[in-house]
Amino acid sequence: NGATPTPPASSPQRTESAFLLACRRRPVPHTPVWFMRQAGRSLPEYRKLREGVPMLTSCTIPEIVAEITMQPVRRYGVDAAIFFSDIVLPLKAIGLGLDIKPGVGPVVEQPFRTAADLDRLRVPTPEDLSFITEAVQMLTAELGPTPLIGFGGAPFTLASYLIEGGPSRGHEQTKAMMYGAPDLFHALLDRLADITAAFLSVQLSAGAGAVQLFDSWVGALAPVDYRAHVMPASAKVLDAVARFGAPRIHFGVGTGELLALMGEAGADVVGVDWRVPLNEAAHRIGPGRAVQGNLDPAVVFAPWEAVEAATRRVLRDAEGVEGHVFNLGHGVGPQTDPDVLARIVELVHEATEGVAAR
Ligand code: CP3
Repeated sequence: NGATPTPPASSPQRTESAFLLACRRRPVPHTPVWFMRQAGRSLPEYRKLREGVPMLTSCTIPEIVAEITMQPVRRYGVDAAIFFSDIVLPLKAIGLGLDIKPGVGPVVEQPFRTAADLDRLRVPTPEDLSFITEAVQMLTAELGPTPLIGFGGAPFTLASYLIEGGPSRGHEQTKAMMYGAPDLFHALLDRLADITAAFLSVQLSAGAGAVQLFDSWVGALAPVDYRAHVMPASAKVLDAVARFGAPRIHFGVGTGELLALMGEAGADVVGVDWRVPLNEAAHRIGPGRAVQGNLDPAVVFAPWEAVEAATRRVLRDAEGVEGHVFNLGHGVGPQTDPDVLARIVELVHEATEGVAAR
């Protein structure tokens, strides 16, 4: 009867999300935004759901993982979801004695000391991580065109928890091994690279559209030591997942002096903390990579006028940068008012709507 057939709802051309476009340094309808730690204690709906369920247990129950991952997407209208899990989860999945203590972080029963400890670190199989596959599949179905970001811990940051036995300010024992027993340190990082590559591969195989490799504490290192002792293992992870064709984001805190090397390790997008303006960061990183960041996560505690000014400054710094994904410079703090994050999402979208050349 002459009615035009409805075009398929998901022709790839039309549904390529702003987030993936920015990661690929292509023109975007608006600057995409998501927040590291967007799920978690800042959300009352998260605290309610987690009541009485230990952190690492909650990560193994696909229905809980899917629900917690969706909470910030519904609330904020962010351009990407991040999978609810933890960087130490693959270590838990292979039976290592560790836990996450609320308000503290990961704590390891028997810290890593000698070559014999390598035997405790086997690479997880997809069967060990089947609950991840299930949760990712549930999520990609529910998310529709909104991409799911998978993630894992980079070898150095995981090694620090294993060697120190818990969170550390100075990473003294980690550095003592790096300088004093470099062969053992390299063997540990290499094994952790295989473990994180397996963790990321399971998420990508199940449908994650991008991954972020968190090297949260690597800013503790000088560039010369990063290059010699850490970069090969991080590059191994990023290289191992290149075959999926999904953007790889690489992030750490206090990494102003490491940005170029972290890009060189094989990132498509380099995450930047709040200490370096994005134009300067892009200059340090060089062409061919996008940047992500970098609003100071503490600015949300200031009056809205200051939050708005700081958000607009980040956007101004990113003008002329090849690809920009808006984010905080580190994770959302537990005391953050979710309404402020909602206003930031709105502001970023409004301020960049139609500014296609970003
Ligand atoms: O929303 C998201 O970003 C996804 C979830 C996510 C969690 N951990 C959940 C979580 C992500 C991406 C991580 C990564 C992670 N875990 C990193 C790298 C990111 C960063 O912040 O630099 C690190 C270093 C860890 C290790 C870890 N796990 C720490 C330091 C903590 C905090 C301890 C505390 O209570 O302050 C955790 C626990 C953790 N991981 C929580 C969440 C939501 C809090 C658990 C709770 O609700 O008590």
